[in-house]
Amino acid sequence: MLSAAYQYGLRPLLFSVDPEAAHNLAIATCRRISESSALQAIVKSACCYRDPRLSQTLWNLNFDNPVGLAAGFDKNAEAIGAWSHLGFGFAEVGTITALGQTGNPQPRLFRLPSDRAVLNRMGFNNQGAIATAANLKQYLQTHKLTIPLGINLGKSKVTELAEAKFDYAESLRLLYEFGDYFVVNVSSPNTPNLRDLQATAQLGAILAELNPINIQHKPILVKIAPDLNDADIIEVVKVSQDYGIAGLIATNTTISRQNLITTHLSITGNPVANEAGGISGQPVRDRSLAVINLIWETTQGKLPIIGVGGIFTAEDAWQKIIAGASIVQVYTGLVYEGPMVIKNILQGLVVKLEAHGLENIQQAIGLAHR
Ligand SMILES: Cc1cc2nc3c(=O)[nH]c(=O)nc-3n(C[C@H](O)[C@H](O)[C@H](O)COP(=O)(O)O)c2cc1C
Repeated sequence: MLSAAYQYGLRPLLFSVDPEAAHNLAIATCRRISESSALQAIVKSACCYRDPRLSQTLWNLNFDNPVGLAAGFDKNAEAIGAWSHLGFGFAEVGTITALGQTGNPQPRLFRLPSDRAVLNRMGFNNQGAIATAANLKQYLQTHKLTIPLGINLGKSKVTELAEAKFDYAESLRLLYEFGDYFVVNVSSPNTPNLRDLQATAQLGAILAELNPINIQHKPILVKIAPDLNDADIIEVVKVSQDYGIAGLIATNTTISRQNLITTHLSITGNPVANEAGGISGQPVRDRSLAVINLIWETTQGKLPIIGVGGIFTAEDAWQKIIAGASIVQVYTGLVYEGPMVIKNILQGLVVKLEAHGLENIQQAIGLAHR
């Protein structure tokens, strides 16, 4: 019922305004939820779904369910108290860079409804690590989070690639006490040459710089692009394992424009092929799944994977989990399906477990390979 209310009521309204304005409205609303226990109770009763079969412990953290908020939605960690009440099992904030930055010029966020996709070239617009650490400190002094919090780190635009490791290290130092896990984001297409940092030497240098700061041995993960070829993905896996990385996030948005139904962006009138940015949602789903399968096969299931890309339904999430994802994340699915998408996915996952005669979600991880 509430899903239909979103699809036929709120979504047309939100889709009638500029995508970035709609996003800012969503964040402002979630911020209010984050700060009001009355609102939290209302949202929780509508959106949350609990089933002990969906819970698991990973990296010594308790995940009540395997569906999390993907990076990029709450870039400045402004609404961290809202995410558990919307039903998420964990949330990842950021990308946060050492220096605050405004990001790319607008317009920089576009909907592609025929493809159930989003194109974004936000360019890591965020307040920076110092301001975000202050926000987090203030909020966490008076509130306690009930779900694991991931913090996604990126390189400041003005920092040279050769200096990238110091930039990531500075952010990790500033934000270390607040995160349950951290992500080295080397896969956004919207910071020039950032994805070059996925190359073995550069990635190794960053991870080597971060390890001494990680005195509490918190999980550090690497988020990769779907556009790497298979050989390069295997290289990233090997470097990550060499440096004791806790897991991989597969994947970020794609720069591919293949198989899109949309030809032109309505806001600019330009061919989508000529517009810079990364595509998320349905067009990235299959490649993200293939990357998860490849990582699982390369590591024989030994490196935990967070699966993300084109998850709209329980079936999408299930495919990622049986391919090898321990937990999954959603961004574009939230835009198209509304907040009820989380509960719908969770309920559907329980149905899947029952249909396969499995006792819990952990038994489903990597099932396709057995
Ligand atoms: C508007 C937008 C902004 C994003 N910003 C970030 C970001 O700052 N850092 C990051 O690691 N991923 C970012 N992402 C990528 C998502 O976290 C996710 O990896 C990708 O969108 C695929 O998942 P989805 O199909 O569920 O959206 C962004 C995605 C979108 C749509």
